[in-house]
Amino acid sequence: MADKKARLTVDGLEDAIELPVYSGTEGPDVIDVRPLTGQGLFTYDPGFVSTAACESKLTYIDGANGILLHAGYPIEQLAQHSDYLEVCYLLLNGELPTPEQKEQFVNTVTNHTMVHEQMSHFFNGFRRDAHPMAIMCGVVGALSAFYHDSLDINDPHHREVCAYRLIAKMPTLAAMCYKYSIGQPFIFPRNEMSYAENFLHMMFSTPCGEYKVSPTLAKAMDKIFILHADHEQNASTSTVRLAGSSGANPFACIAAGIAALWGPAHGGANEAVLVMLNEIGDESRIPEFIERAKDPNDPFRLMGFGHRVYRNFDPRAKVMKQTCDEVLAELGIENDPLLKIAKRLEQIALEDDYFVQRKLYPNVDFYSGIILKAIGIPTNMFTVIFALSRTIGWISHWNEFHSSPNKIGRPRQLYTGPKKRDYPAK
Ligand code: CMC
Repeated sequence: MADKKARLTVDGLEDAIELPVYSGTEGPDVIDVRPLTGQGLFTYDPGFVSTAACESKLTYIDGANGILLHAGYPIEQLAQHSDYLEVCYLLLNGELPTPEQKEQFVNTVTNHTMVHEQMSHFFNGFRRDAHPMAIMCGVVGALSAFYHDSLDINDPHHREVCAYRLIAKMPTLAAMCYKYSIGQPFIFPRNEMSYAENFLHMMFSTPCGEYKVSPTLAKAMDKIFILHADHEQNASTSTVRLAGSSGANPFACIAAGIAALWGPAHGGANEAVLVMLNEIGDESRIPEFIERAKDPNDPFRLMGFGHRVYRNFDPRAKVMKQTCDEVLAELGIENDPLLKIAKRLEQIALEDDYFVQRKLYPNVDFYSGIILKAIGIPTNMFTVIFALSRTIGWISHWNEFHSSPNKIGRPRQLYTGPKKRDYPAK
């Protein structure tokens, strides 16, 4: 597999160390640094900015050129021609489904959407004002206590059943979090609805009244699901892979992924965008916040701007922006004060030298936050919706990890603590 070699000379070592270099189907070559351990050396790469931790066939990102591919298909084309469940099938199987395969897949997912009735008791243990991500970490982890019949991680059929269960039950659990927080009864899923319609139904219907799902909003919801489905080895996906590498069950691994996603530098950003817009409060205060974002001594950052990998427009943000315009037009709320602040911020950041030079473009979470707010979804549910959408990415990576020979993940370190010393005599 290695078609090239790298040679590393190290002060104090007589011979250069020869390292194999591998080429993927796309993207930069990677140097296999494993021979270094034999020489008593490790590599040092905090934040994993230049380390490939695995081989994967699922997703490819070219950050410099704003490209995102799932199994080779550009995200813009998937967003235009596909729907979320089709993208789920693609990520799990590596190929788009035939019409028959799609029908069967949708049918299987649809028939797994209910959760065990006893799950509802877990919710009662949480305070009503608990953050829904805290509840999600708990209840998704708790799924492992309910589905013992599919926990053999070495059995491909068990892994597949777990994937179906997770894809199907995440919207139900997410909507239950919301209903619990506002003190309304849980709403059961409906088999005749699409995945996105069903989620909106479980969020907004009550036993007294059926929520009429607007096709534009259902389409926007489905796009949000598609655009967040996978993003290769980000913090939460790497967490799921690492947790999975110890042999932990998939529900526990996904709960770990949810915890990693929660932070504002990752999935928590869509919620942080709305918090920031509220804090700015008025267009007249925008310059003050822009100055703070540029001040190296102020930790404040413009939420929803910048990305570790994209140093160009995030291709997902382009699709989101268009969907955002459609939703705002349908709902007739283009004049909402927070949305006005958002549009002005976007304009300033695209023109201001600080942001232009650092290539800090609006990211997917900037627009998804605005859409979710317009749909009527409360801010603290935004990251839950990201988690729901990303579950397919997490479980596909977990499945890919277990589908070939693997090792427990065990990073090394550069130790800078005290040298060995003796315990002081008493
Ligand atoms: N506002 C102001 N300045 C920024 C921002 C921002 N949002 N993001 C980066 N910078 C500056 C940063 O201060 C640094 O400046 P300098 O070179 O003068 O020191 C420069 O840009 C490079 O930043 P970095 O910290 O090296 O970039 P990173 O790759 O470590 O961070 C990031 C990426 C996404 C964590 C960061 O851009 C950020 O905190 N953005 C806001 C949070 C956000 O929107 N996150 C969602 C990411 S997309 C969803 C997901 O994939 O989870």
